[in-house]
Amino acid sequence: MPTLRVNGVASSVPVPTSMPLLWALRDALGLTGTKYGCGVEACGACTVLLDGEPERSCSVQVHDAVGKAVTTIEGLSPDGSHPVQQAWVAGQVPQCGYCQSGMILAAVALLRRTPQPTDAQIDAAMRNICVCGTYQRIRAAIHQVAAATAATAAAGSAGSAGTAGARS
Ligand code: FES
Ligand code: FES
Repeated sequence: MPTLRVNGVASSVPVPTSMPLLWALRDALGLTGTKYGCGVEACGACTVLLDGEPERSCSVQVHDAVGKAVTTIEGLSPDGSHPVQQAWVAGQVPQCGYCQSGMILAAVALLRRTPQPTDAQIDAAMRNICVCGTYQRIRAAIHQVAAATAATAAAGSAGSAGTAGARS
């Protein structure tokens, strides 16, 4: 029985190792925030993070996830307080919502890699499909997170400079 480490918790999962990770997450572990869309690696609704990188869980077999940290939307924060989730709410990004778990995890991975992405970098990274057409709002929400990150960093530097100045 394979052991998967999902959202920080390791557990033995009673599934074949050749099963797509998506079904192990949804059916064996009850993590239904990860969605099935196309099943052929095209839509991204099933996106999860494997060691921090976005992967389409419909096309990853369980044995490929063994030994890696799997993060699903349920593991991003216990209460929707992750900055990307908050930006999604503030920007009223979701419409039907079906694609949004995958979108949010793809955005989290992008912002970890590229904290201040350009529109072109967002478009290149966010290859998931949204049939409701939320792409503009997704782009705006990602910029919002990037701006907040930059503002926090600037405030931190100003605080450090002030402290250093006070000591000198
Ligand atoms: S369900 Fe996996 S990419 Fe569409
Ligand atoms: S919000 Fe409906 S598919 Fe994206």
